[in-house]
Amino acid sequence: MNDRLPWRLFGVVYAHAHPKAPNTSIIRNKSGLPLPTELLGEPASGYLTGPEEQERRQDRIKSVCLSCHGGGWVEGHFKRLNNTIRTTNEMTLTATKILLEAWEKGAAKGIGQGESIFDETIERKWVRQWLFYSNSTRLASAMGGADYGVFANGRWYLSENIAEMMEWLEFKEKDVR
Ligand code: HEC
Repeated sequence: MNDRLPWRLFGVVYAHAHPKAPNTSIIRNKSGLPLPTELLGEPASGYLTGPEEQERRQDRIKSVCLSCHGGGWVEGHFKRLNNTIRTTNEMTLTATKILLEAWEKGAAKGIGQGESIFDETIERKWVRQWLFYSNSTRLASAMGGADYGVFANGRWYLSENIAEMMEWLEFKEKDVR
């Protein structure tokens, strides 16, 4: 299956090109973390397949769909999916920037303080953004499930969670002052 998939939809933290090797434990991003992207989304390209290979894979999966579906339908499907990949990555980036601001302002303790990045409220919400909501939205889009992409841990939750993260930070800042 892998040689027909241009994108790894279940991102850690962002959706990205599939790793070159099946052993993903060797992956390190520029910051030394075992992640295939930087916290701000830049892919750890050395470990991932490049744009040419992605295009080859995209064509292979399209040729499978084309044996039953018409050309316009197939093009439209992947255009929508690629748009979902872009917008969900952007929603994850927005959440990440709020988290970085919380660390910077001392409202939460993260990488800079040598603390866990998964144990505080705002960090758990950040994890929700990509592990639950962005991933679910992308799965729904890949499967043509338009309603699921909104209601089943989808876009509704992506935007609600950002509002909650921002408000948490505002309240917490008032606390710190
Ligand atoms: C063996 C034939 C076949 C292949 C290959 C195939 N499909 Fe389908 N697909 C169908 C049939 C049959 C339906 C149901 C059409 C209906 O209910 O009117 C369908 C429906 C769908 C639907 C639901 C459409 C809707 O309006 O709800 C999606 C999404 C879909 N296919 C995606 C794909 C994708 C993506 C691929 C390629 C990875 C693919 N299909 C390959 C036969 C196929």
